[in-house]
Amino acid sequence: MNDQEFSASEVKILLVDDEVNITKSLRRLLMDVDQYDIHIANSGQDALDILADETDVGVIISDQRMPEMTGVEFLKKARGLAPDAVRILLTGYADIEASIAAINDGAVFRYLTKPWEDDSLLRAVAEAARNYLLVSENKRLNAMVLKQKEELEQWNQRLKQRVLDQTAQIREKNVDLATSNAQLRNSFDETIETLTGVLEMRDRRAPGHSRNVAELVTVMAEKLGRPEDEKGLLRSAGLLHDIGKIGMTDALLCKPISELNEKDRQAYENHVIRGQAAIDMIPALRDIGVMIRHHHERYDGLGFPDQLKGDDIPFGARLICAADMFERKLIQFPESDSLVSALKELEGEWGKSLDPKLRIALNRGAKEVYSNLNISVEVLEAKVAPNDLEVGMQLKNDLYTGTGVLLLKKGIIFDELKIKAVQRSFMIDPFDRDIEVLLKQTDLDS
Ligand SMILES: [Fe+2]
Ligand SMILES: [Fe+2]
Repeated sequence: MNDQEFSASEVKILLVDDEVNITKSLRRLLMDVDQYDIHIANSGQDALDILADETDVGVIISDQRMPEMTGVEFLKKARGLAPDAVRILLTGYADIEASIAAINDGAVFRYLTKPWEDDSLLRAVAEAARNYLLVSENKRLNAMVLKQKEELEQWNQRLKQRVLDQTAQIREKNVDLATSNAQLRNSFDETIETLTGVLEMRDRRAPGHSRNVAELVTVMAEKLGRPEDEKGLLRSAGLLHDIGKIGMTDALLCKPISELNEKDRQAYENHVIRGQAAIDMIPALRDIGVMIRHHHERYDGLGFPDQLKGDDIPFGARLICAADMFERKLIQFPESDSLVSALKELEGEWGKSLDPKLRIALNRGAKEVYSNLNISVEVLEAKVAPNDLEVGMQLKNDLYTGTGVLLLKKGIIFDELKIKAVQRSFMIDPFDRDIEVLLKQTDLDS
């Protein structure tokens, strides 16, 4: 603190002496300094009363020799009331020893002897006032720093809390988003299943064709190490690949392709374009639409509708083409050796109509999907009502709803989901006979 700052601040000074003349002359001397606000007490007790009210006294000047309470006694008590006040003892030569003892135990800042020299007294008081202001200012700054630190901590705490709140909100929103995504995915899958059901109702010649193709392309994609989301897309494309047949006439649907005239063949071939067009207005299905369009292209470029060749044909379309052809061959043979015969029939197609890179995946995938065609002799047959179905039972024959929609393809193994689907369908569209299932001997034993 410089002199200017000091002179701008007012300091309260308390003068204590039982001799009125002394306090008067001290007052006269100190009144010349504008910055002093002077208070007077004529005894130690009076001074303590003043200090009880005026806690911001900066300098106390007390006489030592007073009746009832000496200056040192008073200043010790004053320290309790105004700890920051700078204490000065006025003493005669005879009392110097008591003054020095008081200085040593910290009750007094310094002592002045009576009679005093005006200049040195003024200097001593100025120095005391400056000390007081320095200590006060220091305290004020410390308090301010402490307050700011507290505010900063509170602010930090609030900030932390806000970050935590916002993180929790974001987490909650993410969960909501994941839930609605899953719901959306479910209703997307349900929509595709419904469309497939409609398609299969239309084309009774090949019951379960779309579902079989979908299952086979999914297993083939698995064997080829394709990512999970692509497998989902391929399954949907498998289910919908012949959706364009919905608009075909009964006559066209029932005739073998080899017996179609040029006009009808053209109409048949158009099912791939109609299929793509039918779903093109749904952006999420557009990639599937492209696979649908090209699922009758041939690897040698002689297919339809765009005569794409080789790897120019989209991968999903090549996969569907192979699964589709295999599935159509399968139903041409007696069940006992249909799997081996159909695979043999395809051998001549690799590199011509089919992509040879898919051969191993199709052979392995078909064996996996259709392994049930070689039914073990160790199984027993049973007829059960929908409510008596159990996990692990195998469906012996294709299962249709009451109105003739294919519900499940023979050979599937019942899990909880499939059992629920059958029971639900039975409530909506009941069929009037029991379900024929196969049970392994070991299942019956257990
Ligand atoms: Fe087709
Ligand atoms: Fe097909």
